[in-house]
Amino acid sequence: MINILFAARPASWARYEAPLRKALGAAGLEDFNLSTDIAPQDVDYIVLAPNGPVQDFAPYTRCRAVLNLWAGVENVVGNRSLTQPLARMVDEGMTQGMVEWVTGHVLRHHLGMDAHIHGQDGIWRNDAPPLAQNRPVTILGLGALGSACGRALAGLGFDVTGWSRSAKDIPGIRCLHGDAGLREALRTAQILVLLLPKTPETENLLDAQALAQMPQGAFIINPGRGPLIDDDALLHALDTGHIAHATLDVFRVEPLPPDHPYWAHPSVTVTPHVASETRKDTASEVIAENIRRSEAGEPLLHLVDRNLGY
Ligand code: NAP
Ligand code: GLV
Repeated sequence: MINILFAARPASWARYEAPLRKALGAAGLEDFNLSTDIAPQDVDYIVLAPNGPVQDFAPYTRCRAVLNLWAGVENVVGNRSLTQPLARMVDEGMTQGMVEWVTGHVLRHHLGMDAHIHGQDGIWRNDAPPLAQNRPVTILGLGALGSACGRALAGLGFDVTGWSRSAKDIPGIRCLHGDAGLREALRTAQILVLLLPKTPETENLLDAQALAQMPQGAFIINPGRGPLIDDDALLHALDTGHIAHATLDVFRVEPLPPDHPYWAHPSVTVTPHVASETRKDTASEVIAENIRRSEAGEPLLHLVDRNLGY
């Protein structure tokens, strides 16, 4: 019997129980006990939401892996009680959702849609937008999400540059890395998309100095994590017009407090961490596949590097 603890908020259990049971069965795992209530010493796997009930992993002495329901692991990776392997979520449904969200917001700014949606004032301004091939878009982070968004934007014809920690070769994307690569990625970024994880290395990556390297009138789209941006520096860059607009999905404090200046700023679009959520059916298949792999002695998918923090 494999004991699988589902450790997330109660509403998630209602959504995930049936798809997880189905996926575990489809993976050939017949003899399992999936529950929100298993004695810690009996748990073999934890399906985890980092904001759920399990914060101390020490009592889970026989747990073979912790399987995160979220892509981001910043709230669990530094947990000193966590000694078990940790896998993050890479879910094709979530990836598709992120591609749709990022593409939509890039196209909004590329086409200057706001001018027509909000500016219907009787004046015929017929300045046509450039073609995508003349619009440089930079994506910081070329992982599961950043690379998929980059490919989709390249497929639409955008001039896509990406930046990551390690060197990459992705067709259709000019791939850069390192400090010099970041400078070049920022220098050309008329539209900048942040899809980096939050780690000690990426916190405040987009500070005053980095913002100053971007072209005048650039747009920023952040579905990554709030702490990637120095908020005061961004507000200043928006006030001076150096940055034309920021579309922000993630924040240092969530929900974003009602009195935060982002809410009222005319050059900021706030979306409430909805860029892309984990999708229950496809994510359940990933969880089941990892349990199957573990039981078969095969390496887990999407293991987190505890030293790198993602
Ligand atoms: P991932 O596959 O782990 O990719 C992370 C990317 O960031 C990789 O390309 C990595 O470089 C790069 N990176 C990490 N540290 C770096 C550094 N110090 N310098 C340069 N590049 C660095 O992660 P993912 O699945 O694409 O997800 C990215 C983030 O999106 C998550 O961590 C989460 O914060 C966010 N997210 C948000 C939502 C939402 O709804 N808003 C939904 C899901 C995820 P290498 O490729 O060289 O390792
Ligand atoms: C959402 O932000 C996630 O990390 O899955």
